[in-house]
Amino acid sequence: MLEIRNLNAWYGESHILHGTNMDVPEGRVVSLLGRNGAGKTTTMRSIMGLMDRTSGTLNYKGDNLLNLRPDQIARKGIALCPEDRCIFPSLTVTENLFLPPIIAKGGMDIEEIHTLFPNIRERAASRGTDLSGGEQQMLAIARILRTGARLLLLDEPTEGLAPVIVQQISRTIARIKEHGYSILLVEQNAHFVEGLADVHYLIENGMIVDRLEGTEFARQISRVEKLLGL
Ligand SMILES: Nc1ncnc2c1ncn2[C@@H]1O[C@H](COP(=O)(O)OP(=O)(O)OP(=O)(O)O)[C@@H](O)[C@H]1O
Ligand SMILES: [Mg+2]
Repeated sequence: MLEIRNLNAWYGESHILHGTNMDVPEGRVVSLLGRNGAGKTTTMRSIMGLMDRTSGTLNYKGDNLLNLRPDQIARKGIALCPEDRCIFPSLTVTENLFLPPIIAKGGMDIEEIHTLFPNIRERAASRGTDLSGGEQQMLAIARILRTGARLLLLDEPTEGLAPVIVQQISRTIARIKEHGYSILLVEQNAHFVEGLADVHYLIENGMIVDRLEGTEFARQISRVEKLLGL
C-alpha cells in the first residue's frame, strides 16, 4: 500500500501540489485523471523523489519515502514509466529491455515478458527508431517489469496512440494487475480507465478534487469529462 498524506511539492519557488491525499492499495489499479498542467506528472515525480522539495507523508509498505533519493525509492520496488517512454533509438528492443538493472527480487523473467508482450519477441532485433508508438509504450512497460518493481507508475500510456493500440494496452495492464502488481495510472482518457481502475482520483490545479470508486465511475463520466475539458 502506498499512502500519500498532505503531500506538497515545489519546483523551485513554484508550489505545485497542495496537500494531496491518495492511496494505492496492493494489487490495485488506481487512476489519476486531470487536464494538462493539473499536476499528474508532478505527483509521480514526487513519489519517485524527483522534485526540488516535498512535504507531507509518502508511506510505502511501512517506510517513509520522503527525503529518500530516487535510487533508494526505486530499490523499494517502485518504478516510473515516463510520458515520453525514453526508448533509446539506436538500441535494439532487447538492449532497451535489458538496460535498466534488476534492482529488486521477483522481477518478471523474459519468458513471462514474451507471453505478456508477444511483439517484444517478434521485434527483438529492431531498433528503437523502428518501433511504432504502441510498441515503444509496451517496451517501456516491459522494461520496468523486469527490474523487480511491484508498484508501477504509468504516465499517460495511451497518449497519441490509435484506439486499437489503446485497447491492447488496456488488456496488458489488466493482465499485469492479475500478476499482483499495483499500478498508479495517470491519464486524460476517461474511457480508457473506466473498467480498468478500481479507484479514480481527479486532480485540478494541484489539488485532488474528487475520489470515485470504479463501480460509480460510469455514472459520473460526463462530469469527469467536463473536468478534463472534453
Ligand atoms: N520544471 C518545472 N518547473 C516549474 N514548473 C513546472 C515544471 N514542470 C511542470 N511545472 C508546472 O507544474 C504544473 C503541473 O505540471 P505537471 O507536469 O505535473 O502536469 P500534468 O498534469 O502532468 O500535465 P500534462 O497532462 O500536460 O502532462 C504546471 O503548472 C506546470 O507548468
Ligand atoms: Mg504530465
